[in-house]
Amino acid sequence: MKTITIHQNDTYKELGDLYGLFFEDINHAADGGLYAELIQNRSFEYCETDHPDYNHFTGWDKSANMTWSIETQNPMHPENKHYLKIHASNDSQIINNGYTPGIYIEKDKTYDFSIYIRTNEANKNLKINIISKDNTICAENSIEITPQNAVNPNTLPFISNGWLKYDLELTAIHTSYESKLVLTFDEGEYDIDMVSLFPTDTFMGKKGGLRRDIAEALKEMKPKFMRFPGGCLTHDGSLNDTDRDSMYRWKRTLGPIETRPAWRNNWRYNQTLGIGYYEYFCLCEDIGAKPLPVLPGGFNPHKGIGVPIEDIDIWVQEALDLIEFANGDVDTKWGKIRSDMGHSEPFNMEYIGIGNEEIGDGFFERYPYFHNAIREKYPDIKIINTAGPFAVGEGYDAGWNSAKKYGSDMVDEHYYSSPEWFLANMHHYDDFDENGPKVFLGEYASWGNTFYNALVEAAYMTHLEKAKAVSLACYAPMLCNVNYVNWKPDMLWFNNHTILKTPNYHVQKMFMLNQGTDAVKYSTSNLDEIIPLTDDKGLCGGISIAGNDICGKIWDVSFTDNHTHEKKTLADIVISTDNKDNLIIDTDSNDYKLEFSFKRYEGRKGLKIYLGKKNEHNAIQWEFGGWDNWDCNLTSIVNDRGSTISHRIFHVEDIEYRLCLEVKNRHIRTYVNGVLYNDTVDTMPELEELYITSSIDKNTHETILKVVNLTGEAKNVTINLEGEIREKAHIMTLVSPSLSAENTFDNPNNISISESKDTVNNNTFNYTFEAHSVNTIRFAR
Ligand code: AHR
Repeated sequence: MKTITIHQNDTYKELGDLYGLFFEDINHAADGGLYAELIQNRSFEYCETDHPDYNHFTGWDKSANMTWSIETQNPMHPENKHYLKIHASNDSQIINNGYTPGIYIEKDKTYDFSIYIRTNEANKNLKINIISKDNTICAENSIEITPQNAVNPNTLPFISNGWLKYDLELTAIHTSYESKLVLTFDEGEYDIDMVSLFPTDTFMGKKGGLRRDIAEALKEMKPKFMRFPGGCLTHDGSLNDTDRDSMYRWKRTLGPIETRPAWRNNWRYNQTLGIGYYEYFCLCEDIGAKPLPVLPGGFNPHKGIGVPIEDIDIWVQEALDLIEFANGDVDTKWGKIRSDMGHSEPFNMEYIGIGNEEIGDGFFERYPYFHNAIREKYPDIKIINTAGPFAVGEGYDAGWNSAKKYGSDMVDEHYYSSPEWFLANMHHYDDFDENGPKVFLGEYASWGNTFYNALVEAAYMTHLEKAKAVSLACYAPMLCNVNYVNWKPDMLWFNNHTILKTPNYHVQKMFMLNQGTDAVKYSTSNLDEIIPLTDDKGLCGGISIAGNDICGKIWDVSFTDNHTHEKKTLADIVISTDNKDNLIIDTDSNDYKLEFSFKRYEGRKGLKIYLGKKNEHNAIQWEFGGWDNWDCNLTSIVNDRGSTISHRIFHVEDIEYRLCLEVKNRHIRTYVNGVLYNDTVDTMPELEELYITSSIDKNTHETILKVVNLTGEAKNVTINLEGEIREKAHIMTLVSPSLSAENTFDNPNNISISESKDTVNNNTFNYTFEAHSVNTIRFAR
């Protein structure tokens, strides 16, 4: 008989805020997504810095019977520099196409339209229509452009130079999924800015607020925290906060939306900053999540540039001011600014992240300035250091060393890996020192949104929950607009009218809803089988070399088989920019040495060397000068999905190198000019018979069991509850007959959580965990 016994009184870890969310405006998550604004380029600020194809007219069309231009003289606000000037004939039109594929408008729903106009014309009419692709009028209204109809200018003291705001409500009489906003003017000359259209039906009914369906999907997960605003969005940009492509500087995101600058979003689009820091804090509050902002640490790892140390105080002060903005009394400078924006109560911020996966000494030289100042002024704030974009390696070690040296409360780890990597690394955190800085797994996902990915992530989460050193964890990225994909996989997908909850979302939600306050011990019987997934013979197979956008030469190539002691001399290779993959040998040996000389003549990066190649989709890749010529990495590729298993910082130059690769079974070593660079073992995946974790919820007096069955067999288990009497069981299950199944917009509930209730007899409960299933059981009195 298979049993799980939950020792309900034997707590071993406080679970605190373990499961939360990570929000980054990637994939048009904010603009064109959660931020419910339906007009694209509403303030004519789009430009080439945002995206090479953008200009100030992007998103807009006009009728032939008019002229238009973009102007900057006497704008409504210095931060909102550009506006549209039109010379209209009667019935001239300007048209906004919204975000791809157009504006979604729903019959009987109401919409808030607003516009800023400056004109000397009198008694002129403006018609506002929302028109579908087949020219059906879906909504219409009109207004006379006269100061009497404008919003009282005294309520908009920040707007100058004669601009007046007009607003009105539209009611949709038809539904359209691809409509446009059409503004029809009488003859005359008009300056136009901030053209806006929001559904009135937003999350919590806030005017100019958030898309209800997306925000509610987040709220129903009951996340404990939300990390924001990124991601690379935080640190990728210039050091000057007034630059268009600046790093994310929170102070510039406050105030009335008309006064916020428009910025380049580093994911190659524009950010209106309609969701700025204040809105992020409000969102956290509204979904019940603790805010976890991440600030840039004055160093851009993408460009290797940092603020001079003598100027770091400005950045450090920005961090201190953020804490005051979030938590300060209304009589403090930043507390008052928060209060003036509408929130006199503090946001009770507890966490702050400095840096997002920065690599390089430049960051770690700057980190202590932030750390020490925050610690001194706000000793209760938990400070989070950062450990690069991989689960191993030089950046990772640098982050941990810095955190230990300065006493960071946590280290933010990020990794995106194959399901096989997760299966091979379930015990990643078991040996971490629970008395040192804790782990914040701030970004992770297995590559994919299939049921299998979700199952594997669930299994991994059972280990995160049990590892004493792990404090916080959040899946990434969170949101993706299907029409603007920068990154896959993502937790929640959406188009302009509906959302798609992935299996990964359901897993996250099941774990959040059933987290508990304290982990408790369990023991098992007849459930400890470990099932290997491969019959591995080591890293024999093809070895090939390709250029990585370079020209160069490879010569003096030798291959030594350590089994036979045979040394072969292999042909020279010319590397050209076609990135052709040159097979140099296919070997049965799993114990060998490859050596060659390499020189780059042109290009910025280096080589990709493949070994243990089984086919085009499965190999180990040694990247020499990868990712913008920063890395010397080993990546294990399984079914086209890569997992970084060794990382060193390295910049290839146009000089001669002697490179060497040593393989023994699955142990790989690389040498550059005789110096050991990578030294790692590519571990093979295996399955535990069941992945289990148990906790109690001290607030609700319940006991929680989470069980993931990754095997293809149902497992009948007797669950014994040692201690408190439990009489009821509330079960949630996620199951699918197919591991490759996904949820789609056509079949969004293909994989969804099912719930049931049952009774417990004498603290014993018999349950069958279906093959390939994620299960949570809440036991209550
Ligand atoms: O989540 C997508 C990106 O992955 C994040 O912006 C970055 O932090 C990571 O590299």
